[in-house]
Amino acid sequence: MSETYTHTKSDPILTVDGVTRHFGGMTAVDVDHLEVQRGTITALIGPNGAGKTTFFNLLTGFDKPSPGATTRFNGDTLQKTSATHIANKGMVRTFQLTKALSRLTVMQNMLLGARDQPGENFFVGLVPALWRKREREITAKAEDLLARFKLLEKKDDYAGSLSGGQRKLLEMARALMSDPTMIMLDEPMAGVNPALTQSLLGHIQSLRDDGMTVLFVEHDMHMVRHISDWVVVMAEGKVVAEGPADTVMDDRAVIDAYLGAHHDTDLGDDSLLTEETYEELAEEVAEEEAADDHHKADDHRKQDEQEATR
Ligand SMILES: Nc1ncnc2c1ncn2[C@@H]1O[C@H](COP(=O)(O)OP(=O)(O)OP(=O)(O)O)[C@@H](O)[C@H]1O
Ligand SMILES: [Mg+2]
Repeated sequence: MSETYTHTKSDPILTVDGVTRHFGGMTAVDVDHLEVQRGTITALIGPNGAGKTTFFNLLTGFDKPSPGATTRFNGDTLQKTSATHIANKGMVRTFQLTKALSRLTVMQNMLLGARDQPGENFFVGLVPALWRKREREITAKAEDLLARFKLLEKKDDYAGSLSGGQRKLLEMARALMSDPTMIMLDEPMAGVNPALTQSLLGHIQSLRDDGMTVLFVEHDMHMVRHISDWVVVMAEGKVVAEGPADTVMDDRAVIDAYLGAHHDTDLGDDSLLTEETYEELAEEVAEEEAADDHHKADDHRKQDEQEATR
């Protein structure tokens, strides 16, 4: 496995250099250089604990990298690193564990995702007719998006009453309220009912077809193979490989990164597994599922804390 990995793109929308994050003595993220090609669907894969979510947090302003990191997005070097500033530049994200606010209705959640149009705010606020027009526009847009995600008839329901999969869809719809240039999805398929999976894949592809850049984290390797134009692999905080899905997922370094961590061995190609390894791994996965539940509970707590401080 190479220590540093650099791949340049012809038209990167996002370029990051020197992004590191330590937790105590542990280095969760240490990405030397990464470029994301504009207008593509790029998957970020890697075993549990590889640093994928932390990396997303750093990129989207939900966590601060160590000094020395630089991020260029859509032609600008991001000087400020707050989540709001980055979202206003056009880069939005969804969360591994959904953050749809349960005590608000689906529609209220959508309205929270809208951002002010440049140059309005104060003046618009002073003139009720303009304000009402703007409100009507936002509501119409929210209804369009909800219809697209088959959530329109739920618009007055509390977000808390939706299924896990529907909350994922709501989060994606809400992120689209701000007309992002780039959308980052953290495990969009996790917890989604198989009946919704196909339409979710279709939605993600249509975002790209509309000209958006999509970067997503996912453990479902069938999905990764199916919709990604490009796959980036993280292990132990570093980018260890990247390339088109079929090339990357058959790469020795990638298989080792997964199997070495005894996690998520389904690389979407069952021929890679012998029966013997399969049985061994099944046992280990069962053992580690208990540990993983623990990890997820921790994540939950972290997100609740973040929510509380916002
Ligand atoms: N707030 C935190 N405090 C301490 N350690 C953390 C914190 N957040 C993440 N970590 C640790 O950093 C490492 C990377 O975690 P991260 O959640 O980014 O991994 P991941 O690749 O998203 O994993 P998964 O696939 O399980 O979601 C892990 O070892 C994790 O325990
Ligand atoms: Mg994660």
